[in-house]
Formats: sequence, C-alpha cells, structure tokens
Amino acid sequence: MSARVVPLIAAAATLVATATALAPMMARAQAGRTLSAPSAFAGIRDPAARSAAMFTEAGKVLQHPRCLNCHPDGDRPTQGDGYPHQPAVQRGADGLGVTTMRCATCHQAANFDAGHVPGNPKWQLAPVAMAWQKRTLGQICEQVKDPARNGGHSLAEIVEHMAKDELVGWAWTPGVGREPAPGTQAAFGSLVKAWADSGAACPTR
Ligand code: HEC
Ligand code: HEC
Repeated sequence: MSARVVPLIAAAATLVATATALAPMMARAQAGRTLSAPSAFAGIRDPAARSAAMFTEAGKVLQHPRCLNCHPDGDRPTQGDGYPHQPAVQRGADGLGVTTMRCATCHQAANFDAGHVPGNPKWQLAPVAMAWQKRTLGQICEQVKDPARNGGHSLAEIVEHMAKDELVGWAWTPGVGREPAPGTQAAFGSLVKAWADSGAACPTR
C-alpha cells in the first residue's frame, strides 16, 4: 500500500467514527421534525390523558418559530428563531402595520426568496388575544378553545383553520433558508382533529 493511501484510510475511519457518534443526536433532532399519527396514542387508556398527549404532539408545530413569530407577545412580530423583527414594525389597529411600514410593503403574495422575504396574500400579525409566545402549551390549549380569545370560533372551526388555512399552511413552505414546521399540515390537522374528537383536553403544563 502506498504511503499516500494510508493517511486517507485513517481519515476515512475518523469520519465513520464521527458519523457513528453523531447518529443518536441526529435521530433525536429528527424526532422533533416528525409528527406521530393519532393511532400512535391508542395505547393510552384514559381518554383525557390521550387527548392531552395528542395536543402535546401537535405542540411541536404550535410552538415552532414559524407559528410563534406571527403570534408574538406584544405588538412587534419576531423572526428567525424568535428575535425582534427588523425593522421595528408595529401591528397597528388592523394588524397590518402602521404608516409606511405596512406588512404588504415588504411581504408580497408569495415568498420572495432572492430577498429572503416570506410572503402570503393574508400576511398580517395575529391579534394580541391570540399571543402564544411566552405561554405554556397548556395555556395555548385553553386559549385556542376559548371563543372569547380565539376570534369567536367554535372548536370545529379552529380545527378546520389549523388543517386547511392557507396562511397556517405557509409554515410548511416558508421559503429558502427557513426551517418548515414539523410534519405536514395534513398530519397536524389530523392530530388536532383527533384531539378535539377525544374531548379537547389540555396538557397541564
Ligand atoms: C420594511 C420591510 C418589512 C415590513 C414593513 C414588514 N416586514 Fe416582516 N420581514 C421582512 C423581512 C425582510 C423578513 C425576513 C427576515 C429574514 O428572515 O431574513 C421579515 C420576516 C418576518 C417574519 C418572520 C417569518 C419567519 O418565521 O421567519 C414575520 C412573522 C414578519 N416578517 C411579520 C411581519 C408583519 C406582521 C408585518 C406588518 C406588521 C411585517 N412583517 C412588516 C420585512 C418587512
Ligand atoms: C403571517 C402570520 C401568521 C403565521 C405565520 C401564523 N399565523 Fe395563525 N393567525 C394569524 C392571524 C392574522 C390570525 C387571526 C386571523 C384569523 O383568524 O384568520 C391567526 C389566527 C390563528 C388561529 C385562530 C385562533 C387562535 O386562538 O389563535 C389559529 C388556531 C392559528 N392562527 C394557528 C396557526 C398555526 C398552527 C400556525 C403555524 C403552523 C400559524 N397560525 C401561523 C397570523 C399568522
């Protein structure tokens, strides 16, 4: 074997060892990126515990930055992993921004990947009553069920919104350089529906 090949083989062995050590970490990261189907919870006998467990699974989406950035705790959206929106835009009376800083000035009907600007025809900030940032998943659960805080909607309408709304759906096609919400909107929708059908119990935390 030539002297030049031996270091190459040693380098390859190091790479394999590194990949092996990283595998469990990557498997854990991957688990956060997928959503279990409602059937995965069939083994939980107590209906309230089963319902709450399905909401906890759906919480991987609800508490993902793609949703939280538009459901902020205050009047300014966040971006990226949750840092304040640059520039310092404000919600305004209609959730569409103030003066020249209207959302649609920059956010078009579709993602503009060349400029790294996300877009959707309905782009605007969620009302303050629908703030999810800095809330526990249990608090978010109580809030989305409560017509006084969810825009006057029935549980069925909220399920429909999560499963079908196009602006919610943007979270799975967020444009280049942005991590999509875990799973698919359809998988998320079926979890939320199974949660509602099983009594819409909330996690205690
Ligand atoms: C002056 C231009 C401008 C205005 C006005 C503006 N935005 Fe943005 N916004 C951006 C840009 C650019 C980004 C992308 C930043 C990045 O990720 O690099 C962004 C990102 C975002 C994100 C982050 C999406 C994500 O999850 O990554 C949200 C949410 C958002 N804007 C909401 C709003 C809302 C709501 C309004 C109106 C109240 C608004 N923006 C007004 C330029 C603007
Ligand atoms: C671009 C901003 C934006 C993004 C991104 C966004 N939302 Fe919203 N959301 C809104 C606005 C605006 C409303 C209120 C208007 C309406 O009811 O249609 C709202 C309302 C809701 C409601 C209704 C009631 C409530 O209690 O909050 C639900 C449920 C909801 N969003 C779920 C989601 C989920 C799940 C995601 C991520 C997968 C998400 N949203 C991402 C802007 C956004």
